[in-house]
Amino acid sequence: MPSSPHKTCYIRTFGCQMNEHDSGKMRLLLAPLGYTFTDEPEAADLIIFNTCTIREKAYHKAISEIGRSRFFKCHHKNQIIGVCGCVAQQDGRALSERFGHIDLVFGPDQISELPRLIQEQMKPATALDLINTLEDYSFINEVPKKVESGAAFVTVTKGCNCSCSYCIVPSVRGREVCRSDDDVISEVSSLVKAGVKEVTLLGQNVTAYRYNDETLASLVRRLSDETEILRIRFTSPNPKDVTDELITEYANNPKLCPHIHLPAQSGSDTMLKKMRRGYTRERYLEIVRALRAARPKISITSDFIAGFCGEGDKEFEETVDLLNEVCFDSIFAFKYSPRPGTRAAKEFDDDITKDIKEARLGRILTLQRKITRAKNESLVGQTGEILVTGPDRKGSGGFMGRLPDNRIVNFAGNASMLGAILRVQLTRALANSMEGKVLDE
Ligand code: 5AD
Ligand code: SF4
Repeated sequence: MPSSPHKTCYIRTFGCQMNEHDSGKMRLLLAPLGYTFTDEPEAADLIIFNTCTIREKAYHKAISEIGRSRFFKCHHKNQIIGVCGCVAQQDGRALSERFGHIDLVFGPDQISELPRLIQEQMKPATALDLINTLEDYSFINEVPKKVESGAAFVTVTKGCNCSCSYCIVPSVRGREVCRSDDDVISEVSSLVKAGVKEVTLLGQNVTAYRYNDETLASLVRRLSDETEILRIRFTSPNPKDVTDELITEYANNPKLCPHIHLPAQSGSDTMLKKMRRGYTRERYLEIVRALRAARPKISITSDFIAGFCGEGDKEFEETVDLLNEVCFDSIFAFKYSPRPGTRAAKEFDDDITKDIKEARLGRILTLQRKITRAKNESLVGQTGEILVTGPDRKGSGGFMGRLPDNRIVNFAGNASMLGAILRVQLTRALANSMEGKVLDE
């Protein structure tokens, strides 16, 4: 179909890196239809809300922005508004019934169909059947021609077969499907040609990767041997699937970055069991010890949930203890939020009050802030190599880059440095990042 010029698209992305990555793929699919991308939804010809429902707050945020978008159509009658991602998957047709101004609803598995949907969508609202069967699922192979930041994500698995009782992801992202090793290697090779130096292998449970005899560890090894990629990361693993083979890869493969995001969720065996995480506190600690023995400077980050069903003071203190014992480099922590259809929502009482959840969350975050700052301060004066990924988040005209251990370094730089790997000296510790100066301009 011939592309018509001057069509604009606004994509609003909520949620995780998987959603960010999906939005990037949608841009690649829409560009050949003649779309350029804008930050101004009012005037856009196409609006896409790529939504998240991991917690109730994320769900409500998406719903309220979708609701407000009805006013855009007053000025732009032919505007197409689409909702995709996890809220679309969760609510399905109910969304287009609730919001008459929505033209398209599609789940995370239908993204490859977007060009067809847009071409057909000059008609009334269509809600699709939202989950494809396993056999049908195909990964999107489009790759950008140029990647300024030098860093890219590559999907290796989609969906999740875990049964964590609090988690809505398996129901909105479907069963796990692994991408062929050859496709992953070919995508990474293309990305290297586009200027990429660092890839992050993505999957809701990336450690479950299996394709024929290939495991995550062997895939990392092949990428290191068979492509020119310089740095490899992956996210997110599940501790229950971390193998000795993967830990050995940390010992032997310098291209595998010294960082792992290893969500613990709780330090209490009682809670871990109720969460159906598939590991104990002791097993978690054993993995941490083995990783540190394999790669002494590895940085370990984590996720925690405060106030899960039945969490008493004793169980909560065990989480505080775990934070003290492991000394994570940084963490994300959240108040437990019951999600529709999950085992926890069906079987357990959400019995921890909002105040207690908030107090516990505050305690975890305050303790971790101290640990993170102390760790960052111990690095001042050291040197390291950063990949320059873009302007810093403060908008102060500076730039930022990432150390192999995933720390962000803010520094005075310029746009010509984008995508380069530079040596820096770390000059100052901030709460969640570092300041540095470039050594080899
Ligand atoms: N309530 C609170 N936090 C949750 N997470 C997942 N589901 C829930 C929930 N129902 C957190 C977990 C996970 C991170 C992505 O979000 O910590 O690792
Ligand atoms: Fe949110 Fe989970 Fe969906 Fe990512 S996979 S967008 S975190 S609900």
